[in-house]
Amino acid sequence: MKKVGVAILGLGVVGGGTYKILTGHRDFYRKSYGVDISVEAVLELRKERALALGIEEGKIATNIEEICSNPEVDIVVEVMGGVEPAKSFALAAISAGKSVVTSNKELVCKFGHELESAAKHNHVGLFYEASCVGGVPIIRALLDNLQGNKVISLMGIINGTTNYILTRMTQDGISYSEALKEAQKLGYAEANPSSDVEGFDATYKLSILSSLCFHTKIPYTDIYREGITQISPCDVQYGKRIGYAIKLLAIGKNTEKGVEVRVHPAFVKLGHPLASVNDSFNAVYLTGDSVGEVMLYGRGAGELPTGSAIVGDVIYCATHSQHRYSPFENTEKAKPSTKFIKNFESAYYIRLSAEDKAGELSKVTSVLSRNGISVAQVVQEQDGIRGEDGKVPLIVVTHETYEDSVRRAVEAINKNGGSTTVATVIRVVS
Ligand code: HSE
Repeated sequence: MKKVGVAILGLGVVGGGTYKILTGHRDFYRKSYGVDISVEAVLELRKERALALGIEEGKIATNIEEICSNPEVDIVVEVMGGVEPAKSFALAAISAGKSVVTSNKELVCKFGHELESAAKHNHVGLFYEASCVGGVPIIRALLDNLQGNKVISLMGIINGTTNYILTRMTQDGISYSEALKEAQKLGYAEANPSSDVEGFDATYKLSILSSLCFHTKIPYTDIYREGITQISPCDVQYGKRIGYAIKLLAIGKNTEKGVEVRVHPAFVKLGHPLASVNDSFNAVYLTGDSVGEVMLYGRGAGELPTGSAIVGDVIYCATHSQHRYSPFENTEKAKPSTKFIKNFESAYYIRLSAEDKAGELSKVTSVLSRNGISVAQVVQEQDGIRGEDGKVPLIVVTHETYEDSVRRAVEAINKNGGSTTVATVIRVVS
């Protein structure tokens, strides 16, 4: 029977989960796939972590050279996170002729082109299913099963921490900071939550996914990004009353005009498949020109769900003799012919703080109309929170319009004399 040795770099939550799956299912993989996959080494400076998992002392390495020179190791699983030393360790493993499986979205997003070029040069595999949306098998779906399609768009809830926070704000009516504290207590959010709540994590994942969808590198620096820290509980509740759920969306579109990539909070119409993706669950909703709409839903993080994605890559690598790489030239920048659309189209929820008197609404609608913005819905929140200045919340939902038109209109309304001003703007997806 074919024997394949694995080394795991880092025995944190995901590394530990990977170890448990690989060892717990070893016999099942032997019988099912005819391959004997064994964990031959781990790189972990906190020896007690390895011992707690039952790993023999002789298999605990303390430096990358021990892993690279170990002839029993064929596949190196990098689950350390961050760029360094993960990048140097992955490149060292590749140079030593080992295939690499990684869960590291920041590394793949920023340096995937460099790792892939080294992997091609050394005729080894590079796998990164676990880097995006944890246990949800979206990368393999894009590389294999959906190959027959031109992907027109993808829209995803690809960060579980922010989805948990926004779900709590929606269902329990609590503030952003209360929901964040709860997420931290449950271990969803880190002590420094900025990568999740400011949208960086989702931006890295969208960079990887949209590159695969649109067959050109989409650098994360070309992605528009806005986090969830400014979302107020009153907007969440007003949105809910008029039929929307608030989500942090990652959106990629490939149109004749160009590529549009953005991460920001959005109101999603109840009834849209993404509106009911709650708590820490993730989902990716894709439209392909042949398949139509597809949605993949599941756990985007965690010991066993992310371990599941890693082990899937390990088995794929162990059972395929030929390695395949990105179906496009994987470079640092997008193809020179790629045009990024910054002035994208969307519908908008605009909450105004309005004086409750005749003529205020008409002032607002005339500014909107001068900017070519058509109104779809207007709601005055009678029982909304009246400000100390006696102003009332007035909500306008627009039809699809341009981002720049909305920015111009907001500026004009706020300059109008101050009786009615814009408090919040949130994009809307129907
Ligand atoms: N921090 C991520 C999330 C999980 O909240 O979805 C790892 O990518």
